[in-house]
Amino acid sequence: MSAPKKLFIKTYGCQMNVYDSERMAEALGGQGYTETKSADEADMILLNTCHIREKAAEKVYSELGRFKKLKAQKPDLKIGVAGCVAQAEGQEIMRRQPLVDLVVGPQSYHRLPEMEAKTREGEKVLDTDFPEEDKFEQLKHRPKSKRGPTAFLTVQEGCDKFCAFCVVPYTRGAEVSRPADRILTEARDLVERGVREITLLGQNVNAYHGAGANGDLTLAQLIWELDKVEGLERIRFTTSHPNDMMDDLIEAHGTCKKLMPYLHLPVQAGSDKILKRMNRSHTAESYLRLIERIRAARPDILISGDFIVGFPEETEEDFQATLDLVEEVKYGTAYSFKYSTRPGTPAAERPQVDPVEADDRLQRLQALLTRQQREIQDSMVGREVGVLFEKPGRQAGQMLGKSDYLHAVHVADCNRQAGELARVRIVSSRTNSLAGELIG
Ligand code: SAH
Ligand code: SF4
Ligand code: F3S
Repeated sequence: MSAPKKLFIKTYGCQMNVYDSERMAEALGGQGYTETKSADEADMILLNTCHIREKAAEKVYSELGRFKKLKAQKPDLKIGVAGCVAQAEGQEIMRRQPLVDLVVGPQSYHRLPEMEAKTREGEKVLDTDFPEEDKFEQLKHRPKSKRGPTAFLTVQEGCDKFCAFCVVPYTRGAEVSRPADRILTEARDLVERGVREITLLGQNVNAYHGAGANGDLTLAQLIWELDKVEGLERIRFTTSHPNDMMDDLIEAHGTCKKLMPYLHLPVQAGSDKILKRMNRSHTAESYLRLIERIRAARPDILISGDFIVGFPEETEEDFQATLDLVEEVKYGTAYSFKYSTRPGTPAAERPQVDPVEADDRLQRLQALLTRQQREIQDSMVGREVGVLFEKPGRQAGQMLGKSDYLHAVHVADCNRQAGELARVRIVSSRTNSLAGELIG
């Protein structure tokens, strides 16, 4: 028998890419590959790419350039590009970087094993189809290997919202929900393998409407089904769109014990003029009222957001409206970006904001968001929170984990194992983490 081949995967972009990379590694496991953390010893390198902003997409080409020497030393090395850049740029990738052997779009990952076999015969292969068959069914988990305490699980993919700045509807395709029974089977399997917390993933996860035994399920109904899975302790989901925040989901935040008090709910901007031009179909006011209703159901919920500054035709006044909205909401965490022109999206054709001005706005917004984030983190001191331990810390006896609110927490002299949940009192707040002590 030949020695096992080594696979090196580098993942960019969102959590769905992280999930997809795991599935691809499993699919190629069937071809005799085991994963390695070093590109130098790989027989196959896969870049799982992101196209969301120009910088993310361009990174792929500089990264590929770095493999030139490696490929010269090791002619059998195969190099593949997966993910959203693969979908968006397809053939262009091979033209720009001839050392690439394989290009595979996010909807074709189940075909990777055949594609890999073809590259071994010296072919160059490309697949950016949107096939009919259910890729998830064909990308089933490998038998029962042990896993860490947290996992992602994709329940919905793609997006029909077409925000004017965004490539996702083009790279991931139309919105599709997976049937509930398959998700539940996957969840039970994860729990058997040691998982205690599952984060349900979808580009528009709260638009979930997968088939159940008696018709389609909402995301809240799916969460209640998962709530029954014994051994599963925590449920999270991301990313939600304000317009799909249904009543039953808001209610679940108040009543479902396993559903964690954390919600990522991107607003993008605070000016109604800009929101309209972004094709977001919500206003600043409707978003604020929504946050009010969510907080009425779960007062301590931590709200997280995404923002874009410097969207075409954003004035200083529009930007002020974003700052005002942030002041009102008080975000526990947030991701903010300078608008990046994406070819093929509607906003790409519009008059652009001066980049120096946009940089300045981004800095001002980030200063405010960082301050809020710190204030909310500091306000945890003295409180009791649940912590799921994930791994030992750098100091002897120390354990690291995440609080219910997704803050990183470390506990000294901690006699708990990874995968255990405990009640912890927070004793101090550092730059990016909280220190706590076990209760009882
Ligand atoms: N599905 C999610 C997130 C999509 S991408 C949602 O609907 O919000 C993640 C974030 O990247 C977005 O929320 C947005 O803030 C940012 N983003 C998307 N396209 C962008 C662009 N062209 N320039 C800058 N930021 C962008
Ligand atoms: Fe992109 Fe908008 Fe869809 Fe989110 S809702 S993935 S920002 S198009
Ligand atoms: Fe990036 Fe594609 Fe995710 S563009 S953010 S990897 S859906």
